[in-house]
Amino acid sequence: MNLLELVKARYSCRNYQPTSVEQDKLNYIMECVRLAPSAVNKQPWKFRVITSEADKAKLKECYHRDWFKTAPMYIIASIMHDEEWVRADGKHHGDIDIAIAVEHLCLAATEQGLATCWVCNFDVEKCKQHFTFADNEEPAVLIPLGYAADEMREKNRKAMSDIVK
Ligand SMILES: Cc1cc2nc3c(=O)[nH]c(=O)nc-3n(C[C@H](O)[C@H](O)[C@H](O)COP(=O)(O)O)c2cc1C
Repeated sequence: MNLLELVKARYSCRNYQPTSVEQDKLNYIMECVRLAPSAVNKQPWKFRVITSEADKAKLKECYHRDWFKTAPMYIIASIMHDEEWVRADGKHHGDIDIAIAVEHLCLAATEQGLATCWVCNFDVEKCKQHFTFADNEEPAVLIPLGYAADEMREKNRKAMSDIVK
């Protein structure tokens, strides 16, 4: 797949097969995450790989959707706010950095024949209660990871002329 084909193939998967993700595929995906760029190369992030039944049960309490429960594993992407770059005008860049790393994850997974979905609409406080985070660590994105059990939908996007000036 070239990059455009890969970008077209990635989609928000909302139903997964129970099949486990192979360790070598997970290693490959996380290497793509590790090499993501970040502001001033601060790499202000941590990624928790959630595979145990106990941890999966806790994570499912943070986002109540039937489809979310189908994933065989999850990754919690968090921002280390004490490590992120802050520009002179006060703008924090951890959100931008974590977004780049998570999309590396999603694209790498797609290339490996796997599927993902960004999930930000979760209960952050419950997540903090269930898992151990550092004081300045913010769980920002939950990413279910596995083999798709649904079909890719057609992409609904703005026209080029609406976004390029
Ligand atoms: C920052 C961000 C947060 C998102 N949060 C959620 C979410 O909480 N739940 C969900 O089902 N999808 C979520 N999505 C997925 C979007 O709805 C999806 O990317 C968008 O509709 C385009 O569809 P596609 O990913 O299939 O191309 C999120 C996507 C992004 C980039």
